[in-house]
Amino acid sequence: MPALRLPRFIAHRCGGALAPENTLAGLRAAAARGFRAVEFDVMLSADGTPVLIHDETLERTTDGRGRVCETPDAALFALDAGGGERIPTLAEAAALCGELGLLANVEIKPAAGHAARTGEVVAAFVADRWPAGEAPLLSSFSAEALAAARRIAPQARYGLLYEDVPDDWRAAQARIGAVTLHCDAARLRDAVLAEAAAAGVPVLCYTVNDPAQADALFARGVAGVFTDRLDRFA
Ligand code: G3P
Ligand code: MG
Repeated sequence: MPALRLPRFIAHRCGGALAPENTLAGLRAAAARGFRAVEFDVMLSADGTPVLIHDETLERTTDGRGRVCETPDAALFALDAGGGERIPTLAEAAALCGELGLLANVEIKPAAGHAARTGEVVAAFVADRWPAGEAPLLSSFSAEALAAARRIAPQARYGLLYEDVPDDWRAAQARIGAVTLHCDAARLRDAVLAEAAAAGVPVLCYTVNDPAQADALFARGVAGVFTDRLDRFA
């Protein structure tokens, strides 16, 4: 696995605020702004298809109703995810990232009760079907999803994802073989930064929309930030 090409700025939910979240239009907006990395959220449909969406329910980001994990593909892909965009499959997003030269941070976002299966499906896709070019970075708030993914794709790159990093994160890092540590910018403690620096693990913080906050984080040793405000950082 080649070294991780980690830019300082990562577009959040594909294109941040420049496009409907978690859409192909967002990937194009990020690339057009000069971003080289994107983060997006992946959940399973009722048919087990990995798709890009953040919430467990459809209401906030689409014109549909109900739970993503109970909605079959035919109904899911008929919805408007904003501006006439359709909910993309992971396969479509991966192909476009390859075409645009974007590093993808695939955040495995399982619906409740579907953690292991979601991790397995995403990992199988990454192992067998990810397009040639840069391999993605897989992360998840769900330790169960990450462990399941790693059983399927031990060779993939993993990032630990927390709101507040727990004191025992190094044990989780060893279990998963994680190469990055992701956390809420507001909750990052200096002790964690020191441990990460000593371990050679880059720290990435979400969600940073204020350039002054980004500068302060970089000064503390943070390697990169996830941002919605692509217009402020490009
Ligand atoms: O992966 C970083 C960040 O996206 C985590 O928060 O809720 O935006 O998925 P959320
Ligand atoms: Mg996310």
